[in-house]
Amino acid sequence: PRPILLTRHGESKDNVRGRIGGDTDLSDNGELYAKKLANFVEKRLKTERAASIWTSTLQRTILTASPIGGFPKIQWRALDEIYAGVCDGMTYEEIKKNMPEEYEARKKDKLRYRYPRGESYLDVIQRLEPVIIELERQRAPVVVISHQAVLRALYAYFADRPLKEIPHLEMPLHTIIEIQMGVTGVQEKRYKLMD
Ligand code: G3H
Repeated sequence: PRPILLTRHGESKDNVRGRIGGDTDLSDNGELYAKKLANFVEKRLKTERAASIWTSTLQRTILTASPIGGFPKIQWRALDEIYAGVCDGMTYEEIKKNMPEEYEARKKDKLRYRYPRGESYLDVIQRLEPVIIELERQRAPVVVISHQAVLRALYAYFADRPLKEIPHLEMPLHTIIEIQMGVTGVQEKRYKLMD
């Protein structure tokens, strides 16, 4: 059985500042994770010559993949983070203060809430369909380096979690979730490479 390895990008400079969205590069911590991830992947997939690394089109995932040697890398726009529209680049505190109705609406129904000029979780789930079809079709392992909201949706699909849980699933930084699909169902392992 072929594993699918899911991970968020290493900590970004916007993660440190608490800003959502954007397209910054990695913090020092994030760069360290990229190196540890490369080490892990190169060992784990040493004999898997057909494996591939999938990223979003955002710098933080591309930079997280960059130390990994020996496998082709593919960028998917569908793996980009949920787009926060007019709130892109803001902190949650700023949204709460400057757009309290938006903040409350999202809190009430995070799954369906769509940022003004941006996306909802349901939008993200929909745009992931071609990625899921392609993942299902792969015979070799795939490492998916993406973002919190997107990985919540992908994980929920493979782990068979209900739609309403998706926006609230825990998806920590610097952790690899390995999913194995076998005849007896789905097995999952987590590797926390650093804090
Ligand atoms: O930048 C966006 C965040 O990673 C998404 O997290 O949906 O919990 O606000 P959230």
